[in-house]
Amino acid sequence: MTSVIVGDQGVAVEAVELIDGGLAVAWDDGHRSVFPGLWLRDNCACRECRHASGQRLVQVQNLAAAPRVLNADVTNETIAGEFGDGHRACWPVEWLRARCLCGEHANTRSRPRLWDSTIESSLPEFGLDELREWLAAVDELGFAVVRGGPATEGAVLDVIRLFGYVRETNYGRLFDVCSVVNPRNLAYTSLALAAHTDNPYRDPTPTLQLLHCLSSSTSGGDSTLVDGFRVASDLTREQFELLARHPVRFRYADEDTELVNDAPVLELDPAGELRAVRFNTRSAEPRAFPADVADAYYEAYRSFALALESPQYRITFRLEPGDLFIVDNLRVLHGRTGFGAAAGERHLQGAYADRDALRSTLAVLSR
Ligand code: FE2
Repeated sequence: MTSVIVGDQGVAVEAVELIDGGLAVAWDDGHRSVFPGLWLRDNCACRECRHASGQRLVQVQNLAAAPRVLNADVTNETIAGEFGDGHRACWPVEWLRARCLCGEHANTRSRPRLWDSTIESSLPEFGLDELREWLAAVDELGFAVVRGGPATEGAVLDVIRLFGYVRETNYGRLFDVCSVVNPRNLAYTSLALAAHTDNPYRDPTPTLQLLHCLSSSTSGGDSTLVDGFRVASDLTREQFELLARHPVRFRYADEDTELVNDAPVLELDPAGELRAVRFNTRSAEPRAFPADVADAYYEAYRSFALALESPQYRITFRLEPGDLFIVDNLRVLHGRTGFGAAAGERHLQGAYADRDALRSTLAVLSR
């Protein structure tokens, strides 16, 4: 059988073998992939089964339960095969290799790069026009600082338009963070704010937050950030599981709004990997778990909260007028140091956006 060079990976097919109705592919780097018959039938790349856009035309419910490949051949950069019902199927070799079911070559997303306070000496700071770079930092590190933009009202919405869409909430398309009389939210005071994620009471919780500085002549009022994934990675197994297993009810209410969301402090994906952190003591309702869990849960919750405030993990930096930071709100917690409201002015504008649009723009810019 002819060897076929496979795109970037430079791996060629040595042999294709029929096995249990599917195919086994032996590669010239010694790897072997096994693809079951129904998987192959569902993923046939012929024009009848796959639209030019790449979208699938076959419906899984219309396929036979156990289609069998009767013969197969390698031609050019494609493996072709014939099924028992006469369908002639094909699969690009490079495409197959990238989707080998062993999982080692899967096109999975890159893992987050965790950080602690030592990143303060090399902050991911960018100019507004370094779009790809700061989007990549948000994707990898969960945050970026963008300096030197316009210090004009509403400019944060223009920044969001560079990569995606504003997520409007009951606070509006954007919200002002400055101290006011009779605030409806602690953010609108001059008090220090401990590290938190925003809006855990919202379903879905906004995945990105931007805070843009319009003025900052007060003493204090510096921004603080903590990588929640990094802190969670230092919990004991037992603490981690308690925070992942028991949901918290988050709630926010004012005259016009009543928002409730039940979610654990640490949310896991189906593989058991940490997917999201929600931490906001201001909006957490009293816990409703069984009494025998309470002591252990509070020990874990308190340990996590203490670590979030530890200088070992936290970075502090100052936003000057025109600067902003953007955080992955399901990973990186933000806060601020207290400030003297008597002298000077501190005015930030914030807005929410969605991470999927950011990743889409990053992927397109990286093509
Ligand atoms: Fe906040």
